[in-house]
Amino acid sequence: MLKLVCVDDFYTAAKSKLTADGTWDYLEGGSDDQFALQQSRKAFQRYVVRPRFLRDVSTRDLSATILGKNVSFPVGVAPMAMQKLAHPDGECAAAMGAGAVGTIYILSTMSTCSIEEVANAAPNTRLWFQLYYQKDRNVNIDLISRAEKAGYEALVLTLDTQMIGKRRGNLRTPFNLPENAKLANFESSAGNDVNKMRDNSKPVRDMSVTWDVINWIRGQTTMKLVLKGILTGEDATLAVENKVDGIIVSNHGGRQLDCVLPPIDALAEVVAAVGKSDCEVYMDGGVSLGSDVFKALALGAKMVFVGRGVLWGLAVGGQQGVTKVLDIYRSELDLTLALSGVAKSCQINSACVQAYSPQ
Ligand code: LAC
Repeated sequence: MLKLVCVDDFYTAAKSKLTADGTWDYLEGGSDDQFALQQSRKAFQRYVVRPRFLRDVSTRDLSATILGKNVSFPVGVAPMAMQKLAHPDGECAAAMGAGAVGTIYILSTMSTCSIEEVANAAPNTRLWFQLYYQKDRNVNIDLISRAEKAGYEALVLTLDTQMIGKRRGNLRTPFNLPENAKLANFESSAGNDVNKMRDNSKPVRDMSVTWDVINWIRGQTTMKLVLKGILTGEDATLAVENKVDGIIVSNHGGRQLDCVLPPIDALAEVVAAVGKSDCEVYMDGGVSLGSDVFKALALGAKMVFVGRGVLWGLAVGGQQGVTKVLDIYRSELDLTLALSGVAKSCQINSACVQAYSPQ
């Protein structure tokens, strides 16, 4: 791993390892024309940093307070399904890798290590649990109460996955979970049907839920509540009215509706709608450099979450690989701060970036 010096190096190394049928396509691919996937990353190039000089940057502080508690730097791990596709140790290793660098790990409902296994493996990691709202209310009650009991701090409700996006790679080349891996949070074979993830023609969740569900969830748990997938000011306003604790501006890694804004471009509208309320705004999507994190913070995000890069780290080196990838984000962000004249990441503001049109 010594020769892997940027997140893209892990992409190349992971691609050569993840050769099982359909696996790379599932993990890496986006939906339809992959417009959202490609643009989400490119969009960062349309912002540049405005460096300031002769400022004391001899010591720098990257830490942030997120939902009332510290993270050592403002980059956490986004929820991603079935991490045993990347490495036999799956989510347990990824969560330990995030904890080793002092940041948050969001466990997917569709994980291949269970809620409890991850909590036991990574007792020192700040854990959040991502919920896919299931058709059977009792399954939701069970997942929520298990997460709360296991010490997860927040529930991250994903909003943008009423049906699975049309991912051509999966339709052409189905993938299978490795031997002995299963969707660990579900006992029943119905819940364990990986084929659902390939077939975009059928609803996989309760598609009838509306904003009332927020109150219902509040009645089930005292965990903090974060909504993931918001891309408009209108929904951000509703989120604030419903008193949620946080929003992740996200287009699901370009895997769902393909014709949407890159999250970095949707951020300003969401931040404006949230205004001075206590609701925290985070983003994910296309973050491949520490300077991307800097830009997201300048445009109003409190923290960013990264997905694929962490999976590539997991594939290449298990827990150590995850830690190495997160360390790359951390050190690149630190370098950006130093070279921009900003001593603390909490001091990054809108004057630190400007829009730019690359030729
Ligand atoms: C996906 C779902 C599981 O994007 O979140 O594959």
